[in-house]
Amino acid sequence: MLLAALLALVYSPPAARAAANTPGLGKPISPSDLKAWDITVLPDGTGLPPGSGTAAQGAKLFDDKCALCHGQGAKGGIANMLIGNPSLTAHGIASNKTIANFWGQSTTLFDYIRRAMPWPAPRILSDDDVYALCAYLLAGNKLIPEDEPMNAQTLPKVKMPNRDNFIIKFPDRI
Ligand code: HEC
Repeated sequence: MLLAALLALVYSPPAARAAANTPGLGKPISPSDLKAWDITVLPDGTGLPPGSGTAAQGAKLFDDKCALCHGQGAKGGIANMLIGNPSLTAHGIASNKTIANFWGQSTTLFDYIRRAMPWPAPRILSDDDVYALCAYLLAGNKLIPEDEPMNAQTLPKVKMPNRDNFIIKFPDRI
């Protein structure tokens, strides 16, 4: 009996062995559950949701939810300035990297704000709110006109000043 069981184990096909070796924890995730976590926006705008927002709407949201840390008018406070373009080389490697002087892709703004801000309560903003905050910060940095709404079509077209200054290590992979 024992020998038969041992032989069955030894001769079981690889797939069956692999399944038998798992700890048996967890369960497959459904596409609808996965959707809540699937929020990556790629540099070219792939993954941007529907919605839209203007700088004027973003200014109100910013006063309410962001100025506490990033300062009035996003000029900096206990957290980094989000509007402002200081020299990127004034203090060597310690120079202040900001959206205007450093960020390579405008679409990172949407991805980052939606997933991480406001710092104490990430994911509370609607997609319209996030577009409005992107418009406010981009207009404040003079990268778009004050009245241009940001949405899935307009945001990827905004060219960040530092975009072409990154050294791409593996250009064939992007
Ligand atoms: C309680 C403080 C706090 C609040 C409120 C807050 N932030 Fe932040 N924010 C931070 C901190 C701290 C960082 C740096 C996080 C890090 O480097 O990991 C940051 C980083 C950022 C960055 C990246 C800045 C850079 O130069 O890399 C952006 C953009 C940003 N916040 C936007 C917002 C927006 C928009 C809001 C309002 C919806 C907001 N934040 C509210 C604390 C805050």
